[in-house]
Amino acid sequence: MTRKFFVGGNWKMNGDKKSLGELMQTMNGAKLDPNVEVVCGAPSIYLDFVRSKLDAKIGVAAQNCYKVPKGAFTGEISPAMIKDCGVNWVILGHSERRHVFGESDELIGQKTAHALENGLGVIACIGEKLDEREAGITEKVVFAQTKVIADNVKDWGKVVLAYEPVWAIGTGKTASPQQAQEVHEKLRAWLKTNVSEAVANSVRIIYGGSVTGATCKELASQKDVDGFLVGGASLKPEFVEIINAKA
Ligand code: 13P
Repeated sequence: MTRKFFVGGNWKMNGDKKSLGELMQTMNGAKLDPNVEVVCGAPSIYLDFVRSKLDAKIGVAAQNCYKVPKGAFTGEISPAMIKDCGVNWVILGHSERRHVFGESDELIGQKTAHALENGLGVIACIGEKLDEREAGITEKVVFAQTKVIADNVKDWGKVVLAYEPVWAIGTGKTASPQQAQEVHEKLRAWLKTNVSEAVANSVRIIYGGSVTGATCKELASQKDVDGFLVGGASLKPEFVEIINAKA
């Protein structure tokens, strides 16, 4: 089973029309490995702008959405609105949503179900905190997070699972290729036992946390690492190098 390598950029709350316009110009003009699926996660206010400027071969993702189509939910956006901007992906359960904004597993599960029902692809994020890794409960944490996601997924064809250890996000401390591979392999085994062998073999499990041009190649060579979710480096021309990690 070949899984198409997937590289997502998560711009988080960064950039403006000028800087993102320049970044998109660089990406549109770059030689990108055609065997890689590329998706850029833009701030919600720029989704329309980004979709109109980025080449059609590059996907766009929202960084969050709510669990219902419309209504009195000030400040939220729905999958229907995201799709209306021509955008086909959403990042859900990112560690900043979980730990800065206090989103629960339950809410992330509900959002996942609603986004999928409305035709969005979901980049579903999981990952342990430093104290959890040090306490030896990494597996327990990521399996529990994955279970809530899995309970809300009918079609795994539209889901990418992003393993992002919280201690590696924005810290410059990339997980070693062995650390990433170990967790990815366990997640795949969990999917085999709890979902199906076909899903375990086909779902892309991508790694996020301080991925750079310097660290991407060795990480990409690991058997169960099917791509990346990139924060800081996705705002730089270096992102092209990460997309082409396997070329
Ligand atoms: P950094 O690449 O900046 O560590 O961020 C990773 C991340 O959170 C991607 O979603």
